[in-house]
Amino acid sequence: MSRFEPWSEERTVEIVADHKGLEGPLMPILHALQEAFGHVPEEATPVLARELNLSRAEVHGVITFYHDFRHQLPGKHILKLCRAEACQSMGCEKLVERAESRLGVECGNTTPDGRVTFEAVYCLGLCATAPSAMIDGRIVGRVDANRLDQLLKEAQS
Ligand code: FES
Repeated sequence: MSRFEPWSEERTVEIVADHKGLEGPLMPILHALQEAFGHVPEEATPVLARELNLSRAEVHGVITFYHDFRHQLPGKHILKLCRAEACQSMGCEKLVERAESRLGVECGNTTPDGRVTFEAVYCLGLCATAPSAMIDGRIVGRVDANRLDQLLKEAQS
């Protein structure tokens, strides 16, 4: 069974109501939707526009601008590699290439068997032990080829 709730307009409206009082509520709402549904489906756009009094284009623009938001349900495991500056300087791009070749998908995609979604992330706040990764919400520092292989094994299990 999926760890995420199926998308529903009713639940989306509820999530919007919980965050509406915040200043600049769209980003926190989008994060909350992704947490609940695993992604921000297209059907959410008109609901958010209506509830927040924004145009659909504005909502769509924000959803597509940020790498954080998924448009489809993720796989069973989510592996993220940090591609921000500190991790770049510690060779994260080599790790990205390695993960892409082992998984057979480009960063930002899910393996065809639905097991692993491989994504980039831009700083996990663990720059001191770069390069960093995250697997199913757990942060891992000092990732090298061996550690990456372990993470891939874990993700493919
Ligand atoms: S840049 Fe990768 S953890 Fe900060």
